[in-house]
Amino acid sequence: MKGLILSGGTGSRLRPLTYTGAKQLIPVGNKPILFYAIEALRDSGVTDIAIIVGDTRAEIRAAVGDGSAFGARITFIEQERPLGLAHAVKIAQDFLGDDSFIMFLGDNLVRGGVDSFVRQFLSSSPAALVLLSEVPEPQHFGVVELEDGRVKRLVEKPKVPPSNLALVGVYLFQSDIFRAVDAIQPSARGELEITDAIQWLVDNGHTVEPHQIRGWWKDTGRPDDVLDANRLMLEALERDVRGEVDEHSHVVGRVQIGAGSRVVRSTLRGPIVIGDNVVIEDAYIGPFTSISDRAKIYRTEIENSVVLEESHIESAYRIDGSLIGRRVQIVPAVNKPKTIHLVLGDDSRCEF
Ligand code: TTP
Repeated sequence: MKGLILSGGTGSRLRPLTYTGAKQLIPVGNKPILFYAIEALRDSGVTDIAIIVGDTRAEIRAAVGDGSAFGARITFIEQERPLGLAHAVKIAQDFLGDDSFIMFLGDNLVRGGVDSFVRQFLSSSPAALVLLSEVPEPQHFGVVELEDGRVKRLVEKPKVPPSNLALVGVYLFQSDIFRAVDAIQPSARGELEITDAIQWLVDNGHTVEPHQIRGWWKDTGRPDDVLDANRLMLEALERDVRGEVDEHSHVVGRVQIGAGSRVVRSTLRGPIVIGDNVVIEDAYIGPFTSISDRAKIYRTEIENSVVLEESHIESAYRIDGSLIGRRVQIVPAVNKPKTIHLVLGDDSRCEF
C-alpha cells in the first residue's frame, strides 16, 4: 500500500499566516501538522509516500526532505493549482499505479493513527473505505448517508444534511478510483470533488465501506482549529526540562523546555511546550501554550496560544487564544504608553 498526502491548497482561512508559509507546516505542540500525517502513515507500515504540493512546494520540500528522517521514502508531486482533492488523486496516478493507497489531508490530525483503518481495508478489500465522525454541524462538511452498513450517498456541505456523519480527511482506495476521477466533472466551485468520485464508485456498483472513528480528529483549517489541535496534542505531553530555570521561577506540571532556553523570574503552568533557545523573563505562561525556537517573552501573561519562531512579545495585555506567526513583535510603544502602534499584514486581526 502507498500513501498520498495532500499538502497543496490555498489556506485562505488561515491568512495572513498562509501568505508566507504552508498551513501544513504550522506547528501544534511545536511539531508541524504535516509531520503527524507522515508519522501516522509510517507507523501503519506505509513508507512509500507522495506529497502533493502547490505554491508552498519549496518550504515543504525543505522541511520534509527525502523522508529518511521519518523512515519513509517521499516523492513530491506538483499540483499547478488547487483544482480539488480528486484532481490531486488524478495527478498522482503514475506514482500510485495499481497499488491500493491511503490518502491523508495534510492539514488533518487523527489521534491514535491510521493502523486500524489500514487493517480493515486490507481484510475486506472494498473499492474505498472512508472515515466518518459524528459532528454537531454537518452542513460544514462532506456528509455521508449509510444504508445496510455501506455508504449510499455523499454530499459536500449540504444545506439539509442527510446525517450527522462527516467525512474525516483520510480515505483508502483501490485503483478503481482513477476511473471515477476521470469520469466526474468539476463542481460549481470549479474543483474535482472527492465526494463526487466516491459517489461514482457507489453508483457504479463498487463497495464503499465506512469506518466510524472513535478518538478525536481535527481539520486545522481555521485559527481556532489550530489552537484546538495544539491543546489536544499538549494533553499527551510529558515533562522534560532541558533549558535553565532560575530559582525565582516556578514550573508546574507537564512542561517541556528545549535546550539553550532560559526561564527567569517566571511561572510556567503546564501543559506547555517551549522550543530551543527561547528566553522567558518576568512572565506567566499558562496551560496549552506552545512557544517555538528563539522566541522571547518578557513581562507578559500568555496562555492557550501558539507562538512561532523568533517572535518577541512584551505586552501589557494578557494574551489568550492567540496564534502568533514568525518574527512578530508585540512590544510597548516607546514614550506613548496609551497608544497602540500597529504594523500588520493583510488579513491580520487584533482584538482589544
Ligand atoms: P482544504 O482545507 O479543503 O483547502 P485549502 O487548503 O485551499 O484551504 P482554504 O479553504 O482555507 O482556502 O484542503 C484540504 C487539504 O488538501 C489541505 O492540506 C490542502 C490540500 N489540497 C490540495 O493539496 N490540493 C487541492 O486541490 C485542494 C483543494 C486541497
